[in-house]
Amino acid sequence: MGKLRLGVNIDHVATIRNARGGAFPDPMRAALLAASAGADGITAHLREDRRHISDNDIERLRMELSIPLNLEMAATDEMAAIALKHIPHACCIVPEKREERTTEGGIDAAGQHDRLAPIVRKLVDAGIRVSMFIEPDKRHLDASRSLGAPVVELHTGAYSEAKNAEQKRLLEKIRNAAAYGASIGLEIHAGHGLTYENVKPIAAIPQIRELNIGHYLIGEAIFVGLADSIHRMRDLMDEARPSRSGAPC
Ligand code: PXP
Repeated sequence: MGKLRLGVNIDHVATIRNARGGAFPDPMRAALLAASAGADGITAHLREDRRHISDNDIERLRMELSIPLNLEMAATDEMAAIALKHIPHACCIVPEKREERTTEGGIDAAGQHDRLAPIVRKLVDAGIRVSMFIEPDKRHLDASRSLGAPVVELHTGAYSEAKNAEQKRLLEKIRNAAAYGASIGLEIHAGHGLTYENVKPIAAIPQIRELNIGHYLIGEAIFVGLADSIHRMRDLMDEARPSRSGAPC
């Protein structure tokens, strides 16, 4: 089983900054701190309404970060132009509705195939690693592959919110999707709504190579500091992931 990477999403540092319209807290400082605390990458979502991350944040992250930047973006011409200007390591294509509080579902990769295809192609041709943020569903896995995206990120939001038997059922769906996606050659990531409490069963799925986690880590950082919240999440991920010898890696 390969090492499970942790991408830290810093959007909500910008949410707090924007509550006062000034410069503090600075998402760039959070990104640098996350990198030194062991994050393998930084994720930031430039939303069409710019409610948290700004264009300037993306510019600074691109210039100053020494670990990979994963730009989450809607599949629009405006966002594609921004991605092509900055060439981040990765772009995660997400659906976006202005009225939603967060990214409420995966992108309809199957139903919107023809609209998505030219945008995915442009990004891939520019050398950006494109991932499709999808529900754990075979149709969307097949569509992502046919779009030419090398990566999918499985939406764990419904799993994270569910309880008991329903959570088990949704976990099984994610497990099956991860196995199927890897079998057709996709790199598998996962994220949304992950916490200390629910991360381990997801981290234990052998095909998953990366988790992207934001809101909970930034919330915990209020109480324990960002470095400690990242260390704890990293430890839980590692505990869930047995090494080849069977011991935790
Ligand atoms: N992955 C994607 C594609 C997302 O849109 C988000 C939320 O911005 C996350 C992961 C992180 O979710 P959370 O903030 O709930 O950890």
